[in-house]
Formats: sequence, C-alpha cells, structure tokens
Amino acid sequence: MCVVSVSPDGTKMVAVGDTNQVFVYNISRQGQYELIQTLNTVKDAGFSCAWDHSSTKFAVGCQDGFVCLWDVRRSKRLTQLTSQQTNGRGAVRSVKFSQSSSLDLLAFTEHTSFVNVIDARTFETRDILRIGTPTAELNLTGLTFSSDSRSIFVGTEQTILEYDDEGYRLVPSESNVFRHLHRLFLYYQKFYFNYLLRWPEYNVIATSLDGRPIGYVMGKSEGTDSNWHGHVTVLTVAPSYRRLGVARQLMRRLEEVSEAGQMWFVDLFVRISNVAAVRMYQGMGYSIYRRVLQYYSGPEEDGLDMRKALSKDRLKQSIIPLKHPVHASDLDY
Ligand SMILES: CC(C)(COP(=O)(O)OP(=O)(O)OC[C@H]1O[C@@H](n2cnc3c(N)ncnc32)[C@H](O)[C@@H]1OP(=O)(O)O)[C@@H](O)C(=O)NCCC(=O)NCCS
Repeated sequence: MCVVSVSPDGTKMVAVGDTNQVFVYNISRQGQYELIQTLNTVKDAGFSCAWDHSSTKFAVGCQDGFVCLWDVRRSKRLTQLTSQQTNGRGAVRSVKFSQSSSLDLLAFTEHTSFVNVIDARTFETRDILRIGTPTAELNLTGLTFSSDSRSIFVGTEQTILEYDDEGYRLVPSESNVFRHLHRLFLYYQKFYFNYLLRWPEYNVIATSLDGRPIGYVMGKSEGTDSNWHGHVTVLTVAPSYRRLGVARQLMRRLEEVSEAGQMWFVDLFVRISNVAAVRMYQGMGYSIYRRVLQYYSGPEEDGLDMRKALSKDRLKQSIIPLKHPVHASDLDY
C-alpha cells in the first residue's frame, strides 16, 4: 500500500506505505520528482498523510496510533500526537488539515469510535468526537473537512456523518476548538473590516505572480500634533515567501502613506522575542522607543515600541528613547 499527498502549492509530495519510512519529494516545474528527505515515524507504518494549507507542515497517521508532524524545512519531527486508544482500535486511519487559513485545524480518525480535532497552530488543544456508543462501536473509514473548515465529514462503514458546531450532531463541549476558532474568526473579521473601511490606504496585500495573497500589512493613522503618526497593526508574510524582501516592501508602502499624510513618525509593537521582526525593523531604521511591560498575553511577554522618524520630524524628537519601561496600562498610543 502506498499513500501520497501533494502540497497545496504543488511543489512537494509526501509518500507513506508499508514501512515506518516517510518519503518527501520535490516536484519540479517540469513535473519531475526528486527524493529530498527520508524520515521515520515512531515505529509502525504510515497509513495516511496530509499537508497543511501553507504547504510547510505535513502529518503522517500511523498504525501504532501516532500522528507524526514535520515542517518540511527541518528534518527533526515537530511533534507527535497519540490516539485515545492504545490497542489496534487506536490505529490512525485518516489524517487531514483544514485548508482554510482562518481555521487552522488538524483532524484524525482512529480505527474505531474516535475523531480527534486539534488546534493546528500549537497542537496543544484537542476535542474528541465519539462516533457511535461504547456498546455499539463503529469502524471509521476516513474523514474530510468542508471547504470552509466549519464541519467535518466522517465516514463509517455504513454512512457519512457531518459534525459541526451548529449541525445536527453538535460537538459537545462549550470550550471546543471549533467554537473557539470560529469566534476568533468572527472577531478578526470585524476587526479587519473596520480597518479596511477607515484606513484603506494603510492596508496592503502582497500577491504572488499568479495573484495569490502572500503577505499583508494593516495599519492606521492616529494621534494629534507632534504625535500624529502612522501605526503598524499587523504585518505578516506566508512562511514559504519569507526572506524575499516582501515585508520590507509592505513596510515601505506604509511609510510612504505616512509621509504623504505629513506624519511625524511610524511606530509598532513587537514581541521582545521576535528576533526576525526586530532585526527587520532595525534594518529599516526603526529604533526602540520604549519597552512595554507585559504588553502581550498568551504567552505573556514584554513588547518593544519601535519608531522611525519621518522627514517632518527633522530633529528626530519623536524617537528619543524613554529611560524607563512603561506598563501596558500607561499607554495612550
Ligand atoms: C517578520 C516577517 C514579517 C518578515 O517577513 P519577510 O518578508 O521574511 O522579511 P524580509 O524578507 O523583508 O526581510 C527583511 C529583513 O528582516 C530580517 N529577517 C527576516 N526574517 C528573519 C529571520 N528569520 N531571522 C533573522 N532575520 C530576519 C533580515 O534582516 C531581512 O533582511 P535580509 O533577508 O536582507 O537579511 C515574517 O517573518 C513574518 O511574517 N513573521 C510572522 C509574523 C510576525 O512576526 N510579524 C511581525 C509582527 S510585529
């Protein structure tokens, strides 16, 4: 038996079969396959494999009840998950990632009775769906997500069942991953629309040559008098398009808009541990204006308020660093 999965961007393929080895291939533009990595599962053969929507992470579901996860850019396993059942009933039959980036989920079926739904951003939170009852166990044949990732279809030997947070088979717990991520999605939808309506010129999307979004910056103008400035709210670039100068270009656009608006400076907040971003901002002329204690939650961490003076601030008064850190509750801007 051999099962393969091609990454959504069409550049990689993973293959598993009657062995504990996992084969990763590069697919060239001419359609040629080159073996680039041979990895090992925990012990037993892989039964199913799948890529996440960013084409960087892939999962392999195994006969011994493990799901092994890798990032294609590294040979070390990212993590491994286990089934609810330890005997042959826990053998992983089907593993899938949701393909809509607004709900990052991984789901896998066990041979009987259980579907595991995991938050694929951290792989730490999971919901467990019980199919059938303890006295009437059902063999599970496979699963797939709906295109909007709001529900999961689970195949049994007799039928296909749909599970979602509003459908006829409710995911039971209030704290379930579906509901949590969906709420988060609705929150962000509102948040993003507000930005697009109020500061359209500050919201820029970078696309690949074939028109797919690969990164974006969201920002706004705020403050009065010498505090009139541009603010970077979100900046992100898809993992497979990083280190190509995309973020730098997006930031330049935001700076141009702020210059055109006669602003004094541009500022942003960044996690103190986000070395890549801090280095990028420093490389573009940003400096640390102040440290903000416990600015971030989940995990709790201090933030750096970084600023770059624009041409209106000829004396660069706006970026003179504060001598002491401030607390998040002291911030006006
Ligand atoms: C930070 C981020 C936006 C950078 O995007 P990017 O398009 O890869 O950045 P660029 O290619 O424009 O890189 C510009 C410079 O940043 C620095 N940089 C970027 N990624 C880096 C990394 N992983 N390690 C060290 N430096 C890095 C480098 O100095 C780089 O210049 P160089 O490639 O000429 O050496 C991207 O890594 C990302 O989306 N991260 C997750 C979201 C995030 O942290 N956003 C910022 C929140 S404030």
